[in-house]
Amino acid sequence: MSESERPLKISVIGCGYLGAVHAASMAELGHEVVGVENDVAKAEGLAQGRVPFFEPGFEELLRRSLASGRLSFTSDIKDAEGAAVHFLCVGTPQRRGEYAADLTYVEMATASLLDVLGPGELVVGKSTVPVGTAARLAELVAERVPDAVLAWNPEFLREGFAVQDTLHPDRLVYGIPDGPDGARAEQVLDTVYARIVADETPKVVTDYATAEMVKTAANSFLATKISFINAMAELCEATGADVKQLADAIGHDDRIGRKFLNAGLGFGGGCLPKDIRAFMARAGELGADQALTFLREVDNINMRRRIRMVELARQVCDGSLLGKRIAVLGAAFKPESDDIRDSPALNVAAQLQLQGATVLVTDPQAGENVRRHWAQLDCVDTPEEAARNADAVLLLTEWRQYKELDPAAFGKVVKTRRVLDGRNALDREAWEAAGWTYRALGRRNL
Ligand code: UGA
Repeated sequence: MSESERPLKISVIGCGYLGAVHAASMAELGHEVVGVENDVAKAEGLAQGRVPFFEPGFEELLRRSLASGRLSFTSDIKDAEGAAVHFLCVGTPQRRGEYAADLTYVEMATASLLDVLGPGELVVGKSTVPVGTAARLAELVAERVPDAVLAWNPEFLREGFAVQDTLHPDRLVYGIPDGPDGARAEQVLDTVYARIVADETPKVVTDYATAEMVKTAANSFLATKISFINAMAELCEATGADVKQLADAIGHDDRIGRKFLNAGLGFGGGCLPKDIRAFMARAGELGADQALTFLREVDNINMRRRIRMVELARQVCDGSLLGKRIAVLGAAFKPESDDIRDSPALNVAAQLQLQGATVLVTDPQAGENVRRHWAQLDCVDTPEEAARNADAVLLLTEWRQYKELDPAAFGKVVKTRRVLDGRNALDREAWEAAGWTYRALGRRNL
């Protein structure tokens, strides 16, 4: 084993989505890892191989890492003592009533880590933070433990592909200080990620501010791409053009690319919406708000799609939602996830219900979360239950199971064969051939 493949003792502070996946992945890479999680029940569950969220492939990885003896979980920060590397993986949600990010958890985690941090150890921030945070935390670290160093190392994992994205990322970004401390931080990070580095993964070594901004800039770009095509969908609706064909055609240009040009209900989840808002708030604090005013429009376009979807449902239901039965297929913010944070699907479902429709929601994985957090919505287990006697069916999260529904058989369950494809994901011809009236955002009505 070469020096760069040496196993390290690592702590991961905060074992939510990012932290739990990161901790198990670091153990998979051969390191000895302790995950520190304040929520005692969550820490105990993880230690027993129970995953508190749906993420394909993660349970197997967690169990394998636990069985190797290299991964443990605790609620006591003292167990992080002596680790060569400490990863900060806590959440940075949107502050209530504001656009800015709430840094409470980052600050609390750093404060508790400083109590156990030893000389020569490396603190690595992975949370998505407003630019400038790392420099501030580096000062705190330097004041308390002069020989310790802070690095900023954002992650780019997507829900649904979290394991793959952590073990085989498309790039590594290290934000480090100048001079010998920075060189040491880079060397230690290369040891942590030895296998990933050996795969010739592109690596960008930079300063703190750039590393922090890479993350928010990437998410802003993705959000902009989605809102761009959704703005085109609005125009298509006004002109009778077809947004799917438009996306296919412009996507053939390599410089544009077809990915993230799927028009529909728009983006949700725990990342893109809050990240673009926090980015705008930070730009305002820095006196550069004009640079990001376009993101306000990106956000507006995105939110308008939800309103338009409700409008479309009203139109197909002969102009009134009152007393109509509507089936909503999908509740998670995207397929292969049970995450319902800022889910466009639930937002639309709730609006339909408020406007007098009887709404039945279903989702292959998110049902439990819907019942827990959206008790006012009725949630059932199967699409057939949701669609029984329905006046309209809305596909709002493009799960494979829904794309594979047989429109002829499914048509026997509903009262009226009307389908609204909120994700432009269904085989339109097949549904129309089975006698369904098909409507979608940005599509020509045939
Ligand atoms: C996003 C980024 O893609 C990750 O790179 C990043 O690491 C992560 O946020 C994060 O900050 O932690 P994620 O929130 O898992 O990942 O979801 P995406 O796959 O980006 O999808 C976001 C939303 O956009 C979903 O609601 C999806 O339905 C929607 N979307 C995506 C579209 O409406 N159209 C598209 O063409 C693509």
